[in-house]
Amino acid sequence: MPDALAFNLNFLHPLMMWGLLALSGYSMFLGIKAKKTRTATPEERKALIKGQYGSRHFQIGSIVLAVMVLGTFGGMAVTYLNNGKLFVGPHLLVGIAMTCLIALAASLIPLIQKGNLIARKIHVGLNMGLMTLFLWQAVTGMQIVNKIWTSRS
Ligand code: HEM
Ligand code: HEM
Repeated sequence: MPDALAFNLNFLHPLMMWGLLALSGYSMFLGIKAKKTRTATPEERKALIKGQYGSRHFQIGSIVLAVMVLGTFGGMAVTYLNNGKLFVGPHLLVGIAMTCLIALAASLIPLIQKGNLIARKIHVGLNMGLMTLFLWQAVTGMQIVNKIWTSRS
């Protein structure tokens, strides 16, 4: 692979993931609003329902799911192309765990749509865990960016 291309590839995943962190935060906001709508008094509900928070959360959530799967395997592909191996460290393992969490959370949607409250609680629990891990992932991710930046030739 030409060096310039390899060098730029290193920064595609970090940029994509910072964007994804912002989008995930927005998705969390929409999910919380969806819950507010569902549990509001009939009076408050009239105003909240116009925001269509539930369906907007579903749409943004689907994009977050897709980008996270692509971003995780993309990160692994770039690391492998550059080094001929993967580094089994916190960033790789937490990244894989996050992708499992969001896939499991998304698999509960059919139950949630049938009104299953336990599935709803698990969905929220898995995804709040996901958001916490995401912050940690940004820290270890920037440490890797630093390492690549300082060792460039
Ligand atoms: C960024 C991570 C996510 C967070 C923090 C999150 C959070 C939430 C919250 C707080 C609710 C409301 C639960 C309630 O009403 O008690 C919810 C509902 C829901 N979520 Fe998520 N979620 C995330 C990702 C996703 C993904 C990836 C999908 C689908 C691909 C999804 C689809 C849904 C659906 C369909 C509902 C039901 C909405 C409704 O009541 O109409 N979410 N989520
Ligand atoms: C938020 C900011 C993030 C930054 C700055 C970041 C940065 C990086 C960097 C610089 C690499 C090395 C790529 C290379 O060798 O060129 C990497 C690898 C990787 N990233 Fe991220 N990342 C972030 C978020 C995430 C997230 C959210 C996930 C998964 C959910 C993830 C999963 C991975 C994986 C699986 C690898 C391969 C690791 C290895 O084999 O050592 N990253 N990341």
